[in-house]
Amino acid sequence: MKNATNITFAWFITISMLCLLANSQLTTTFYSKSCPNLLSIVRKQMMNAIKTETRMAASLLRLHFHDCFVNGCDASILLDGSNGEKNAFPNINSARGYEVVDAIKTAVESSCSGVVSCADILAIAARDSVLLSGGPSWKVLLGRRDGLVANQSGANSKLPAPFESVGNITLKFQAVGLNLTDVVSLSGAHTIGLASCATFQNRLFNFSGSNGPDSTMLDGNMVSGLQNLCSPGDVTRTTQLDWNSTDLFDNNYFQNLVKGRGVLESDQFLYSSAQAVSTTRSLVEVYSKNPKLFSDDFANSMVKMGNIEPLTGSAGEIRKNCRVVNS
Ligand code: HEM
Ligand SMILES: *[C@@H]1O[C@H](CO)[C@@H](O)[C@H](O)[C@H]1NC(C)=O
Ligand SMILES: *[C@@H]1O[C@H](CO)[C@@H](O)[C@H](O)[C@H]1NC(C)=O
Ligand SMILES: *[C@@H]1O[C@H](CO)[C@@H](O)[C@H](O)[C@H]1NC(C)=O
Ligand SMILES: *[C@@H]1O[C@H](CO)[C@@H](O)[C@H](O)[C@H]1NC(C)=O
Ligand SMILES: *[C@@H]1O[C@H](CO)[C@@H](O)[C@H](O)[C@H]1NC(C)=O
Repeated sequence: MKNATNITFAWFITISMLCLLANSQLTTTFYSKSCPNLLSIVRKQMMNAIKTETRMAASLLRLHFHDCFVNGCDASILLDGSNGEKNAFPNINSARGYEVVDAIKTAVESSCSGVVSCADILAIAARDSVLLSGGPSWKVLLGRRDGLVANQSGANSKLPAPFESVGNITLKFQAVGLNLTDVVSLSGAHTIGLASCATFQNRLFNFSGSNGPDSTMLDGNMVSGLQNLCSPGDVTRTTQLDWNSTDLFDNNYFQNLVKGRGVLESDQFLYSSAQAVSTTRSLVEVYSKNPKLFSDDFANSMVKMGNIEPLTGSAGEIRKNCRVVNS
C-alpha cells in the first residue's frame, strides 16, 4: 500500500516536472557544467561597473526589460546597425550600458568560450544590478539563446512610453504575458536610475502636445524644481526617477507616488489617474507600506519577464560578439 502511494507520488512528480519543462526550458543549472564560474564572473564585472558609475545598475536592469519586450529575451537589443533596436525611439540617446555588456561577454568568453548567450548575460546582470543596489535577489533561469535579427519597429510599438495611460501600458504588458501585478511591481524598478528632461518636460511647460504644468498630479515643489532643471532647454539633463532619494533599491518610489512625486507621467498615473482607481492605485499604496511584499513580487515578476519567449534548443545561436550575429 505504502509502495503504491510512493509510485503514484513519483509519477505525479515526474509528470509535474515534464509539464514545467514543456512550459519553459530555462533552468537555474544550465551552465553548471559548461561554465561553472559564470555567475561569479558576471557579479565581479557588475561590481566593477557599478563602482565606476552607480547608474550602471539601473542601465543594465533596463536593458534586460527592453530586450525581453521585443521579440522575447534574445539579446536583440544589443545588435548594432542603423536599423537596430538601439535606434528605436524608446532606446536612442537613452538605453545605455552596452560597453558593460561587452566587458562581461569578454570576461565570460575568456573562461568558457562560445557557450553563454548574450541574452542570459543580460538576465544575470539585471539580477545583480538589483541585488548590488540593496534590492532582492532571485535565482536566474538560464538557457536562452541569441536572436538573429533586431526589430526596430517592434521596439517602437511594444515598449511603453512615459506619456501612456495605465490602460495602454497594461495592454503592452499583457501582450507579453504579464499582468497588472507585474505592471506595478516592475514599475518599482524606477526606484533606481535617471530620467532625462525629454521624458517628462510635457508635465512642466506649455508647448504643442503638452498638457502644460501638471498642477493636479505633481507636487508643487517638484514642478518648480524640475522646471529649473529643464528650462535651459537642455533635454539631456537628468534627475532621479525616485526623486531626491538615494541610489538604493527600496520602496521609496511607491512612497513618492502616494505624495504626487512621480517623475514620469506614466509613473504618477499608476496612483493618480482615474484609471488607477480600479486597477493599480491600491497596489501602489500596499507597496508603499510593505517593502517586503514589493521585494517578493518584484523578484517574481522579474523571473516572469525573463521568461518571455526565450529561444531555446537549437533556435538562434550563441553570439560570439553581442553586437553582431555570427558570420
Ligand atoms: C511601465 C512602463 C515603463 C515606462 C513608461 C518606462 C519609461 C522609462 C523612461 C522614459 C525612462 C527614462 C529614460 C531616459 O530618460 O533616458 C526610464 C528609465 C528606467 N527604466 Fe523604465 N519604464 C517602464 C517600466 C520599466 C520596467 C518594467 C523596468 C525594469 C524592470 C524599468 C527600468 C528602468 C530603469 C532602471 C531606468 C533608469 C535607467 C538609467 O538610469 O539608465 N522601467 N523608464
Ligand atoms: C517585429 O515585431 C513585430 C511586433 O511584435 C512583429 O509583428 C514582427 O513579426 C517582428 N519582426 C521580426 C523580423 O521579428
Ligand atoms: C492609448 O492608445 C490609443 C491607441 O493606440 C491611443 O490612441 C491613445 O492616444 C493612447 N492614450 C494614452 C493616454 O496613452
Ligand atoms: C499576476 O500573476 C501572478 C502569478 O504570476 C499572480 O500571483 C497574480 O495574482 C496575478 N495578478 C493579477 C492581478 O492577476
Ligand atoms: C502655461 O499656460 C497656462 C494657461 O495659459 C498659464 O496659466 C501658465 O502660467 C503657463 N505656464 C508656463 C510655465 O508657461
Ligand atoms: C524631496 O522633495 C520634496 C519636494 O521638494 C521635499 O518636500 C522633501 O523634503 C524632499 N525630501 C528629501 C529627503 O530631500
